[in-house]
Amino acid sequence: MGNAVKIAPSILSADFARLGEAVRAIDAAGCDYVHVDVMDGHFVPNITIGPVVVAALRPHTKKPLDVHLMVSPVDSFLEAFAKAGSDIITVHAEAGPHLDRTLQAIRDLGKRAGVSLNPGTSESAISYVLDKVDLILVMTVNPGFGGQAFLESQVAKIRRIREMIGDRPIELEVDGGIDTATAKTVVDAGANVLVAGSAIFGAPDYAKKISEIRAAVA
Ligand code: DX5
Ligand code: ZN
Repeated sequence: MGNAVKIAPSILSADFARLGEAVRAIDAAGCDYVHVDVMDGHFVPNITIGPVVVAALRPHTKKPLDVHLMVSPVDSFLEAFAKAGSDIITVHAEAGPHLDRTLQAIRDLGKRAGVSLNPGTSESAISYVLDKVDLILVMTVNPGFGGQAFLESQVAKIRRIREMIGDRPIELEVDGGIDTATAKTVVDAGANVLVAGSAIFGAPDYAKKISEIRAAVA
């Protein structure tokens, strides 16, 4: 894992009638991952897409598909998202009673396993699964919608999780309200993957916005 910060545009803020085009555009604009927000209308108060859409997007980029499952219960959907071509599959620590088993199931499917924490969840929820995760996703908004304001309260959590990770090869991703200013705040606290939805898709020039975020954290 290099030191460079990775940018993962969230297609939640793209035009859903032209998702393939959106994925090709952010790929060409120099993103590192393509962040896909999957919402079930139960764990979060919104519904987005399922595995068929992930499979349809797969041919549009060679970059890793970073699939964020806001789904509960989630275990029965892991195989479908793996087969659809996800590279990283992230589940919520709050979404099921057997996090350790869920993370193992993702790895058994040959995928990188991620775990996400809602703003109200303590980092202690993941202390005993660190040997089974490849990525930790700290939510800096309450999940469900793009375009919400960054929660400063999460910065201390990011810092603590960076310490918990130590020298393990685990990526620390942050999602929600990220733009140039908040990107610097979270990278200073220890994040190395930045999800940005409205900041990138709301910009007239995606490549320029991605470079501005990179410059802000350099
Ligand atoms: C929120 C999603 C985020 C969202 C971020 O539930 O997990 O990925 O798209 O959007 P912005 O960057 O607009 O806060
Ligand atoms: Zn997300």
